[in-house]
Amino acid sequence: MPPSPYNLFPPLDREALDALRGSIATEGQLDPIIKDEQGVTVIGHHREMICRELGVAPKIEVREFRSEAEKYLAAIQSNLARRHLDQAAREEVIKRYLCSLEETGDFVSAREIGRRFDVSHNTVRRYQAELEASGRIDQLPERARGKDGKLRPTKRHSIAVSGPASIARAAKLLPDLPNRLAGKTLDFRSARRAVQREQSKEKYSEWDRIAKSSVTAENVRLHHSSFQGLQDSWIGPEEVDLLLSDVPYDAKFIDSGQLKELVDLAQRWLKPGGLLVLYVGSIHLPRSVAVVQTQFEWVDMIVSVNASKGQPYHPHKSLIGYRPVLVWSKSPFAAIRPWSNLLSRCGKEKDAHEWQQPLTEAKQLAEWFSKPGDLIVDPCGGSFTTAIAAYQLGRRCVSCERDERRYSRGTDRRKQVTSNPEAGSTAAEPLILQHPAK
Ligand SMILES: C[S@@+](CC[C@H](N)C(=O)[O-])C[C@H]1O[C@@H](n2cnc3c(N)ncnc32)[C@H](O)[C@@H]1O
Repeated sequence: MPPSPYNLFPPLDREALDALRGSIATEGQLDPIIKDEQGVTVIGHHREMICRELGVAPKIEVREFRSEAEKYLAAIQSNLARRHLDQAAREEVIKRYLCSLEETGDFVSAREIGRRFDVSHNTVRRYQAELEASGRIDQLPERARGKDGKLRPTKRHSIAVSGPASIARAAKLLPDLPNRLAGKTLDFRSARRAVQREQSKEKYSEWDRIAKSSVTAENVRLHHSSFQGLQDSWIGPEEVDLLLSDVPYDAKFIDSGQLKELVDLAQRWLKPGGLLVLYVGSIHLPRSVAVVQTQFEWVDMIVSVNASKGQPYHPHKSLIGYRPVLVWSKSPFAAIRPWSNLLSRCGKEKDAHEWQQPLTEAKQLAEWFSKPGDLIVDPCGGSFTTAIAAYQLGRRCVSCERDERRYSRGTDRRKQVTSNPEAGSTAAEPLILQHPAK
């Protein structure tokens, strides 16, 4: 690879290099190599190397750049569009860009850099702080150029501390404080709260990004099978993040040992810390709890309340106005995000299954108890409400239903949803009472 200061990306791996070589050999070089006025390559280092190897005259374009920083930016933007980088490689590219800014003496604000790389300005500030700490760059420049091109003084964050012992703790928070608090002096607790809020915001926006890229029909696998017949090749041990299911509520499901079998399988399939979230009937609630509690750590009971006055199913002729949703953890438990243990549903969705649950409620549970990209299993799929919720939220899902008629109605419903992502829910959204802050 010819030495060029603008080559900030890791070299292509062998497979990608072979593919590029093959394409240049058969179709010729499609995009020109971009050089600056001094003949230094800014974009297209690999294409140049391959053309030389193949003895092909390269197509070159010389471009005028107003500054060194503009060259770095052009190189980065072209490569980011072509290359798929993992998190670590992306971080390194951004850090090398930050180092290059220092070399060129150009000042660009953290917000502007964040916009260019599609990361938050706090991430940029954290990288700057890490580079400063490791000595790869000097202190932050005193002025920064904003989107409008104007130079402005860089405002510093400050935290008032009560004594020398707190200095180190406060110093750790400084790089993660949001820009809007620069120029203010915060007390330690407010600073910590502000950092925690920023970190959650970043985590959720990263999850949204993963979720968007995971919404594919192949991520949802439905089987016509009893859950006892699911094969190891479909769900391996400790592969599952969440088992979310609406099991039959009758005593037979418990008496026949099926609930126990399901709990045994959950124990086998779930990762440590994985969650078991089960709708159970309120009539046999104590018996269901007794079966699960031998193997799982109790987390909570979510009550899904019927907004109507309830249904007269109870043996004592009383009305049943709620459904318990039990949340258990295969220890150790760690919350993914805050949830509310009170859900209120309005209207019914029973078009695909007599015991169908509202899709919005399944989505709410999946959102609280899993992350995008996670694997969810629903062993009592019915009309596959959980699977559809998983699909729409960018989670993977394996589900099964043993009844042939229900399985086929459920798969039809799934097909309808994956070909029209808006479809799937007919009733009003369930109302979440006391919805916790994100
Ligand atoms: C309460 S329903 C699930 C309804 C589902 N939540 C929905 O929204 O459509 C329970 C389903 O589990 C199925 N089922 C019962 N035992 C099963 C087993 N051993 N393996 C697979 N499915 C089973 C039943 O046929 C029924 O369709």
